Amino acid sequence: MTTVVGRTVALIGPGRAGRAVVGALGRSGHRLAATVGRGDPLTAVARAEIVVIATPDRAVAGVAHSLVEHAGPASLVVHLSGSSGLEALDALREGRPDVRLGALHPLQSLTGGPDDVDRLTGSWFAVAGPPAVADLARACGGHPFTVTDRALYHAAACVASNHLVALLGQVERLAGAVGVPAEAFWPLVAGSFANVQAVGARPALTGPVARGDVATVARHLHALPIDEIAPYRALAREALRLTGRADAELEELLS
Ligand SMILES: NC(=O)c1ccc[n+]([C@@H]2O[C@H](COP(=O)([O-])OP(=O)(O)OC[C@H]3O[C@@H](n4cnc5c(N)ncnc54)[C@H](OP(=O)(O)O)[C@@H]3O)[C@@H](O)[C@H]2O)c1
Repeated sequence: MTTVVGRTVALIGPGRAGRAVVGALGRSGHRLAATVGRGDPLTAVARAEIVVIATPDRAVAGVAHSLVEHAGPASLVVHLSGSSGLEALDALREGRPDVRLGALHPLQSLTGGPDDVDRLTGSWFAVAGPPAVADLARACGGHPFTVTDRALYHAAACVASNHLVALLGQVERLAGAVGVPAEAFWPLVAGSFANVQAVGARPALTGPVARGDVATVARHLHALPIDEIAPYRALAREALRLTGRADAELEELLS
């Protein structure tokens, strides 16, 4: 196994993900040699053995192009994007055959908060490239794994994180509409998630759709503010799909 612990690191794109990953690498003995923000010169990157590109996805290919001139000899260049693989670094592959290329996607939601580095411990990391990339994931306290279809994988990650948060936004709005604090719903959310973890989504489903209580669902639709009905219907249809049951009455109500 290639060991990468104790190497010098350059961070390009000092945002939420980049700071967390570099912070975790720092804890495992890596040394930050350079931090490059938007518009900063890339010259300092040449000192680093590992370069972490943590810009928004749309900027990765352009940075890779600039690194043809600036990457240190035989350095390891990784990006943190989940939706793309090594192809995002094609400019480097063509222009600098000595440079090793990697993708290191932490499967975690990083908001810039004080717990970000701790949250990487135990997180899974989608890796691509040489074994040194998986070593970086381990150095962050994570579990490396590989995936062939990164676009589909990243769609799943967005559902797991972003769509879940969007759904909880609806909970906050509805709780506010009836004057109940949102906190009252969080133990319910936590319990539902714990059930899914324990037994999987299908057996964890409770509620009127799972029971086939059509009249209760009809009452919900009558009570909901007009702009909350479409997301409620869409997710209730997903709940019905999860049951695997054919229910013409519910299907009509939710269509
Ligand atoms: N946040 C997450 O939860 C998370 C999790 C896993 C993976 N990722 C991946 O991590 C990458 C960064 O995401 P993020 O959420 O950390 O974004 P972010 O917080 O917006 O950070 C991006 C950073 O890159 C800088 N930047 C933009 N263009 C640049 C350029 N050309 N050269 C140097 N720096 C540049 C930005 O500077 P300005 O502020 O000046 O624009 C900002 O500091 C993405 O590929 C994303 O898919 C994010």
